Amino acid sequence: MKVLSGIQPTGAIHWGNYFGAIQQYIALQNNEQAFYFIANLHALNQVRDAAKLHEYTFEMAIDLLALGLDPNKATLFVQSDVPEISQLCWILLTGAPMGLLERCVAYKDKVAKGQPADAGLFTYPVLQAADILAYDSDTVPVGADQVQHIEVCRDLAGSFNHQFGQTFVMPKAHVLEASARVPGTDGEKMSKSYNNTLAVFEDAKAQRKQIMRIVTDSRPMDQAKEPAGDVLYDLFSLVAPDADRESMAALYRRGGFGYGDIKKALADAAEKFWAEPRARRAELAAKPDQVRQILGDGAAKARKKAAEVLKRAQKACGIPA
Ligand code: ADP
Ligand code: TRP
Repeated sequence: MKVLSGIQPTGAIHWGNYFGAIQQYIALQNNEQAFYFIANLHALNQVRDAAKLHEYTFEMAIDLLALGLDPNKATLFVQSDVPEISQLCWILLTGAPMGLLERCVAYKDKVAKGQPADAGLFTYPVLQAADILAYDSDTVPVGADQVQHIEVCRDLAGSFNHQFGQTFVMPKAHVLEASARVPGTDGEKMSKSYNNTLAVFEDAKAQRKQIMRIVTDSRPMDQAKEPAGDVLYDLFSLVAPDADRESMAALYRRGGFGYGDIKKALADAAEKFWAEPRARRAELAAKPDQVRQILGDGAAKARKKAAEVLKRAQKACGIPA
């Protein structure tokens, strides 16, 4: 499999990003090709502050490495280090039907939430298609919210191949496990836009405080409760060992517990679970040159491939390559 995925650097990553996406990307790094990039050109739609975008991009690289992305197995790079993507994006834009993009719900949702309706946001899926097609990727691991964009990519690749001859590899979405819909501290889906996140790289003490403030229902102490669907239990089951998860589920079903103790158990489990990546992150942050080197090597490898595909596309449609 030739795997590729992108992650937008829009701020500190949270448990939802890790369990819903990053953990699963990393698990795919042993494939024939595993390309992971930090989508800073996409993030520019949202992050309109140069220093912040710069910082988020570099921090994301450190985060991914600390969480186990192995540069000897996977190629890690920054999207804008491969300028061929923007050239390929233009070629794809010329054959992108307005109606196809108008149907994309991610665009409509973002505009409904108050993001300006910029052309960059509207054509976001076309840049994403360039990302995917530039590396002859066949498998794109993404959350369910991104499946429509992979369909757009397939449509664009299909119609280009139809008009100009076989040029692009047809990719498929590899939908990440839906069971990892991580709840936030208010019980809604964890998301930066809802201000309910638990950051992965948080100081353990600060995170304990956040966990102790999680809002719970007013269930009387002696009453039994179904564990699944309870915020504390759902978060606990992500970070606790299997045996502890089972005994916690049994405790819920038996009743006679207070939420305070569950919160403590959750904070303890979280502290243990994140200790290693947090320590690794501190080590990497102290060696920024090493991280820059990894990104430089990754970009060189990615560029070589993208240049080859761009040339193929240019030749096919009559642009001097
Ligand atoms: P946010 O909603 O915080 O802005 P993003 O949209 O940047 O998060 O998330 C990037 C990816 O992380 C998503 O495509 C999805 O796969 C995953 N993800 C984000 N939040 C969650 C969550 N609460 N549960 C599961 N997966 C999530
Ligand atoms: N749109 C993706 C997201 O918001 C990020 C992304 C950009 C991406 N380019 C991609 C994902 C290419 C997969 C393939 O999560």
